[in-house]
Amino acid sequence: MKTIFSGIQPSGIPTIGNYIGAMKQFVQLQEEYECFFCIVDEHAITVPQDRIKLRQQILQLASLYLAVGIDPDKATIFIQSEVAAHAEAAWIVQCNTSLGELERMTQFKDKSQKTGAASVSAGLLTYPPLMVADIILYNTNLVPVGDDQKQHLELTRDFVERFNSRYAAKNQELLVLPEVKIPEKNAGGRIMSLQDPTKKMSKSDTNTKGFISMLDEPNIIRKKIRSAVTDSSGKIEYDVENKPGVSNLLVIYSSLTDLTIDEIVAKYKDSGYAEFKNDLAEVVVATLEPIQERYKELLTSEELQSILDLGAMEAAKVADKTLRKMKNAVGLGRKPRR
Ligand code: TYM
Repeated sequence: MKTIFSGIQPSGIPTIGNYIGAMKQFVQLQEEYECFFCIVDEHAITVPQDRIKLRQQILQLASLYLAVGIDPDKATIFIQSEVAAHAEAAWIVQCNTSLGELERMTQFKDKSQKTGAASVSAGLLTYPPLMVADIILYNTNLVPVGDDQKQHLELTRDFVERFNSRYAAKNQELLVLPEVKIPEKNAGGRIMSLQDPTKKMSKSDTNTKGFISMLDEPNIIRKKIRSAVTDSSGKIEYDVENKPGVSNLLVIYSSLTDLTIDEIVAKYKDSGYAEFKNDLAEVVVATLEPIQERYKELLTSEELQSILDLGAMEAAKVADKTLRKMKNAVGLGRKPRR
């Protein structure tokens, strides 16, 4: 069976962007792959976090993983910081990655431009190597992510090729070269902000009207969709260039139903934005309500705690083995370890 790894940062409550771009895929893929789904809390601290809130968000994300339908009997769910190999492997990755490669990462450029590179944490720059470590530790074949992670996956593939050619003995496969799996943009690979449809929907957006959180109450969801930015033409059409707001709403609608974008356009050809938005709001509410119900039961349960305990143990077994291989390859410690 081939292996999947993916992670989500507990840097806020996941949005419907995270759900459509990532989580929904996870649920489908767990049937065919050996899966590791991680709560990447070490990634979250690359920017300042409130300790109490971060801990809450870690458990909230873990509950949401289960509430959307990830089955702990099929997939390993765990918290990154509870498996020490991640931070350790990340150091080896950093030492085999050039500063130039990291400075080219658009996420670093975007985030550091806002406040200036001198004042952001060094972790913001070295975050992609930690992500590389996450992936390689599990001998991952496939990484399901949204479109914004594409560049990080390219870095991962470059790293694996470089590391293997530097350190692998003849005919030995040291690290597995992962493939990336990204939904097309019109199938939810990049859900945009409801307030600025040229920007990605993000759980850390300071304008909370820009995103729908997976835990938003029905009335908040309705309000946010009603106030989503569109345009003045009044026609429901898919045209990302000229109608980015409506196009984004069409993608959300289509991703959460079994209707294609064309079918939705046909359905609303004689309707205005108000009716379309009302119906879309109900589609989102109907998707999230059952998830929220299960989430509430899970959040404070013993079951959640034991799933995470077991998950960390299972993950560590695999991760420690790869880490040992990497240390042996590089020459760390007194002698090679099995
Ligand atoms: P994060 O926490 O920003 O997002 C988690 C997942 O959701 C996807 N996503 C979106 N998809 C569609 N539309 C959007 N608006 C949207 N926003 C987010 C992301 O692409 C991602 O798949 N660096 C990663 C977490 C990570 C990771 C990993 C992922 C750490 N290590 C190893 C895969 C493998 C991140 O910040 O995701």
